[in-house]
Amino acid sequence: MNDPHLGRTIVSADELAARVEHLGKQITADYADDPPLLVAVLKGAFMFLADLAKQIDLPIEFDFMAVSSYGAATRSSGVVRIVKDLEIDLTGRQVLIVEDIIDSGLTLQFLRKNLLARGPKSVEVCALLVKDGLQKVDPDLKYEGFRIPPDFVVGYGLDCAEIYRNLPYIAEYLPEAS
Ligand code: IMP
Ligand code: MG
Repeated sequence: MNDPHLGRTIVSADELAARVEHLGKQITADYADDPPLLVAVLKGAFMFLADLAKQIDLPIEFDFMAVSSYGAATRSSGVVRIVKDLEIDLTGRQVLIVEDIIDSGLTLQFLRKNLLARGPKSVEVCALLVKDGLQKVDPDLKYEGFRIPPDFVVGYGLDCAEIYRNLPYIAEYLPEAS
């Protein structure tokens, strides 16, 4: 995309593919005895989920949740609201939350607490990106794709005001077009 708001590449398409394949193999090995229910957080995690799922060689199930914490702005408000809830009962299930990015960690903190209250056997997290040093609470991730600098990024599911989600790599977003 030729766009003056797109800065340097933070994670390339090749790096994403290699890491996602590795994560899928790890999940396949770790959950061989009791396949997980993948809970993807919309919309940001949709592309990661699709690629990750193809690398998991187990009869997994999927469900989706949508939460809103940002509106169209680029800073965390700390306020999380469930916009779309799950359809599958979590009782006794091994839940694996699939998240796009951990910034302050507030969204994940809310989700974990919310899902744990529904009686699952376990709740673990697979996050593609973690911003260095910004978490107010330990995000406690079982699987983590990449640690990245604390800049705003777009692509591979991540947006700025709903644009750039289809970019096949992760790029820095420049608010002031250069
Ligand atoms: P947190 O609650 O501050 O950890 O924010 C998590 C959510 O904010 C993510 O699931 C994303 O939807 C969004 N978010 C955080 N940082 C970025 C970013 O750099 N680009 C796009 N979305 C982001
Ligand atoms: Mg998100």
